[in-house]
Amino acid sequence: MNTFNLKFPDDFFWGAATSSHQIEGDKHNDWTEWEKSEKRFSHLRSTGLAEQYGLDNFVSGKACNHYKLFHEDFNLAKELGHNVLRFSIAWSRIEPEEGVFDQKEIDHYKEKARKLRELGIEPFVTLWHWPIPVWLRDKGGWQSGKVINYFSRYTEKVVASLKDEVQFWITLNEAELYANNSYLSGIWPPQKKNLISYLLVTRNLIKAHRKAFKIIKKINPIAQIGVATNNVYIEAYKNRAVNLLLKKFADWWVNFYFLNRINDCQDFIGLNYYFHNRINYGFNRNENAIVSDIGWELYPEGMYFVLKDLKKYNKPIYITENGLADAKDEKRAWYIFETLKHVHKAIDEGVDVRGYLHWSLMDNFEWEKGFWPRFGLVEIDYKNCERKARTSAYFYKDICLANGLTGDMINKYNDLIFRFPVSKILP
Ligand code: FCB
Repeated sequence: MNTFNLKFPDDFFWGAATSSHQIEGDKHNDWTEWEKSEKRFSHLRSTGLAEQYGLDNFVSGKACNHYKLFHEDFNLAKELGHNVLRFSIAWSRIEPEEGVFDQKEIDHYKEKARKLRELGIEPFVTLWHWPIPVWLRDKGGWQSGKVINYFSRYTEKVVASLKDEVQFWITLNEAELYANNSYLSGIWPPQKKNLISYLLVTRNLIKAHRKAFKIIKKINPIAQIGVATNNVYIEAYKNRAVNLLLKKFADWWVNFYFLNRINDCQDFIGLNYYFHNRINYGFNRNENAIVSDIGWELYPEGMYFVLKDLKKYNKPIYITENGLADAKDEKRAWYIFETLKHVHKAIDEGVDVRGYLHWSLMDNFEWEKGFWPRFGLVEIDYKNCERKARTSAYFYKDICLANGLTGDMINKYNDLIFRFPVSKILP
């Protein structure tokens, strides 16, 4: 008999996260236009990516057709034992033209939240998960000072309409990463590489969140509001002095700057954890012993350090994303198991973690990389949009239903869990 048992706190949220652009299909926003631009296609051709994956891989198009199939997807989440689901609202659907709101689309998202609650699944709703309406792009997007008022107006409209169905609001998804990828490294639309723009966008995102927080509280004083932040486990290798110094700087800017600036305007912290960055006289000197299909190092123990670092904010933490691209489903069960052991360790040491949302419920459009990375608990056949839960989804289901990790599931999924090295928090 295996007596291993790591119980999680009562009322812990177990589920998955999604975002509108990546799954819904049939949208019109700055991303969809960028995906189909000549500039984008010629980049894909000249780098050989078009030939390797086909141009269709890089156009979000119908995606998973979740917009039409959301009932089916939510029923599946229920069958898989989830009691929380994170989805985002497409700003471009709600406000396709400046100041013109589409009631039919507002009702669509209202229906989604209502359906989830009916199934006993708590909705976590993200107001902005990167794409913006085309009219806003034309006005300068997040770089324009006007965006703060636009975002406020959109927030007010959505929250007032969904206030009876939604208690948990995430205003912005990974604002820091967006500012970087869209305005500094230039890999996402509008592909700027400009330090001033980057800083301006960061400032506007902070202001927009602060204002949105106040608006939401006014509409619904008991709403719980936060952002989803992409925090990296930054490790100073062997605690060498230079490494420690670089770590201090990187932590300050990458992990804490945004949170510090909004700390009086957040009820909880939404943590997205994917990355480890080992510093050894330079950044990213990772061992990369185990990597996902897209080459991201899988470093589950980093979750523990990132959580411990967030304790100082004294706020509840929901893990709003964590996952991996793993088409063959070889590593997912191991990764979930190891990650959750480290979440549990942090909880044991007093970190107030209240939920874990795996990224993602289903395979989806992974931004500039397109469809080929497979992040889903559920596999999508893009030819006919058929859904099929992977083995790891059933493993995760057992965890959700048991509210923790038990010896029974270790026996049942032994070959998946022990395929890779496991940490010293021993079963
Ligand atoms: C996060 C994003 C999410 C998804 C995962 C893999 O940074 O928030 O949309 O792309 O990475």
